[in-house]
Amino acid sequence: MDDNEASTGFYNEWGWSVYIIHNGIHVLFDADTDPRIISYNAGKLGLNLKNLQVGFLSHHHGDHSGGYRIIGSEKPGLPVYVPPGDASYLEDMGLNPIIVEKPMEIFDGGFSTGPLSSGWILEHGLIIQTITGPILLVGCSHPGIDNLVDRAVELTGEKLLLVIGGFHEPEKYRIDRIARKTEYIAPTHCSGSRIKNYTLKKYPEKYIAARTGTILRIGDRLETIRF
Ligand SMILES: [Fe+2]
Ligand SMILES: [Fe+2]
Repeated sequence: MDDNEASTGFYNEWGWSVYIIHNGIHVLFDADTDPRIISYNAGKLGLNLKNLQVGFLSHHHGDHSGGYRIIGSEKPGLPVYVPPGDASYLEDMGLNPIIVEKPMEIFDGGFSTGPLSSGWILEHGLIIQTITGPILLVGCSHPGIDNLVDRAVELTGEKLLLVIGGFHEPEKYRIDRIARKTEYIAPTHCSGSRIKNYTLKKYPEKYIAARTGTILRIGDRLETIRF
């Protein structure tokens, strides 16, 4: 994954991106800010961006979409599932944006929460059904991390295994709300150190540290392979 914080040997910028391999399907969740950074870090992790089959964009902000420029040249025509809004810039990058209007299956075992509004921007999250439980990936959580988690729980009818992504410096009560609905919590990107520390102190058994270069593996349990 690509985050604002980097592990040794990786580059970083303000942004967020996760490369997912699920049942043999290669998916990119958001694409960070700078094409050079995503490309360098992917190479460092031994990932070939040409293998991507599906793109997902949580919301139309440059720190999540900027790196799609390199994907457009590595994998022209890649479908990228986006919330409503002007997605013509993705076409200009050589990609095929597909607007998601409501919750829907995007690939085998992968679902959009459907767009939620923050009042000024629409954002959706990606739910992946793993054998150990559903996980939810979020971008910046502009509509509220607790609201995204509520939507995922409602759609899956289950407690989540993990919620990971940018939480946008939420109030503490929102973390307390999601803690009741997920086994693990991995705040990254725009979550803020105040909320990372709060989660770590209050829910040490739930807290997962993640940053650029982190690899998580979910089999019959969740493991951090590399941090
Ligand atoms: Fe962001
Ligand atoms: Fe954002």
